[in-house]
Amino acid sequence: MARLLRYLALTLMIIWTVLLFMIFRLEVWQDEREARRIAVNHAQALYQQIVDFRQWNADHGGVYVLVDEDNPPNPFLTVPERDVVSQDGSLLTLINPAYMTRQVSEISMRKRGAVIRITSLDPIRPANSPVPWEAEALRKFEQGRDLFVDATTDGSGRTHFRFMRPLIVEEACLGCHGSPGAILGGIRGGISVSFPLTSIIDEDASGRKFTQAVYFGIWVMGLVLIAGLMFAFQIETAKVKE
Ligand code: HEC
Repeated sequence: MARLLRYLALTLMIIWTVLLFMIFRLEVWQDEREARRIAVNHAQALYQQIVDFRQWNADHGGVYVLVDEDNPPNPFLTVPERDVVSQDGSLLTLINPAYMTRQVSEISMRKRGAVIRITSLDPIRPANSPVPWEAEALRKFEQGRDLFVDATTDGSGRTHFRFMRPLIVEEACLGCHGSPGAILGGIRGGISVSFPLTSIIDEDASGRKFTQAVYFGIWVMGLVLIAGLMFAFQIETAKVKE
């Protein structure tokens, strides 16, 4: 009888452990999905903001800005009036949307660690060439997809979130991108946004530790309860026998 009870207790403990572990995994999985949803929304907002600013710039056919050491004329921009001299003799240069995107992304990188890149499979500026994951995304855009999302882990175990969407050729682009390759509505390239996941879901890490501790507590309590009940039952049956 006592042996049977021990087996029963052990089986119950195993079922309890497996059940609790499965519920815990489910919660972790849901947390990860939530973190991913937050990251997608964050990246989408950054992307959309950049696209809106670019459109404002493109609608003006570029924007003139004072030349200084951080803002030299763009050697890849070959429009006739690229550089002009203002009435007081200052030198102004035309900033095209891609040049503006590059300068803004340097600020984002410095302030928030987010890397924003403008790239194309057929770039005018060689440094705008895609890195392998961007090239993969750009090829998918050409096959009809309009969103690329994934995550990668670096050498120190940090997860980097990667997001990319295409840039479509509009009327305003044709002034500068009038080459035969550029068709209205076609894909000219894309904007990629990547950042370490911890930069937006830091609280989640401490939240997860708390959840782990709570689950551990519940698990131990369950085991103690099963053991206690079996022990009490054993004493009771022993008494009845007497
Ligand atoms: C005022 C001229 C101008 C306008 C308007 C303009 N571009 Fe560009 N664009 C350029 C130049 C010059 C480059 C390449 C050098 C660089 O990075 O600045 C470029 C680069 C790019 C790149 C990066 C890849 C590469 O070729 O180096 C993409 C993508 C792009 N443009 C898309 C667009 C789209 C889409 C529009 C319309 C919304 C647009 N551009 C409007 C001048 C322009």
